[in-house]
Amino acid sequence: MLRVGVMVSGGGTNLQAILDAVDAGKITDTEITVVISNNPGAYALERAKKHGIEALCIFPKDYENRDAFNEAFLNKIDEYHLDLIVLAGFLVKIPAAMIEKYEGKIINIHPSLIPSFCGVGFYGLKVHEAALERGVKVTGATVHFVDSGMDTGPIILQKAVKVQDGDTPEVLQRRVMEQAEWILLPQAIQMIAHNQIAYHRRGGEKA
Ligand code: GAR
Repeated sequence: MLRVGVMVSGGGTNLQAILDAVDAGKITDTEITVVISNNPGAYALERAKKHGIEALCIFPKDYENRDAFNEAFLNKIDEYHLDLIVLAGFLVKIPAAMIEKYEGKIINIHPSLIPSFCGVGFYGLKVHEAALERGVKVTGATVHFVDSGMDTGPIILQKAVKVQDGDTPEVLQRRVMEQAEWILLPQAIQMIAHNQIAYHRRGGEKA
C-alpha cells in the first residue's frame, strides 16, 4: 500500500481528481493518508474531510521565521511515514531538507508544458495569462518529480491541450485541468504505486 500525502493551497480540484480515481479503482494499492495545506481557508481541506481523510493546516505565519516553519513542516511530514508526497496546487517552496530526505518521492503538477511557462512566478492563473500573452496555440500540463530547482525535476507525464480563439485565462485554466491535469496526476500516482516509473536525477546517476 503506497502511503500518499497530498499538499494543497487552494480549491483542491486536483485532490478531488485523485480521490475520485481512488474511488473508481483507477488508482489502486494506494492510501491517501493525509492532506496538508498552508492555507487555513483552502477548500481542499473540506474536500479531504468530506472524504474522511485527515486534513490539517500548517500556517507559515504561526512560526517565528521560515526556518522554523520549514522544520515544523518536515517534522509533520515525517510523522505520517509517507511513500509519496503529491504537490497538488501547493504554492509553498519545498524546503531543501525535505527535498534531500524525500528525493524521488515528491511529485508536482504544473499547468503548462514544461519548460514553457514555469519557474519562479509561474503558478495558477499566471501560467495561463502568460501562455495567452505569448500567443501559443498549444499548452498543457506536466507531472514531474521535484528536485531542488523550481519546476526543474525529471518529467513523468505531459499532455497537450489546444488553445482556442477567444480563450480567457480562466477558460484555458479549466480546459487544461479537465483535459490534462485531472487525468495525468492520478495516472502518475498509479504508475508510481506499481513501480512503473523510476526516479533518475537529471543529468546524473540514479539516486
Ligand atoms: C492547478 O492548476 C495546478 O496545476 C496549479 O495550481 C492549480 C491548483 O488547482 N499549480 C501550479 O501552478 C504549481 N506551480 P486546484 O487547487 O484546484 O487543484
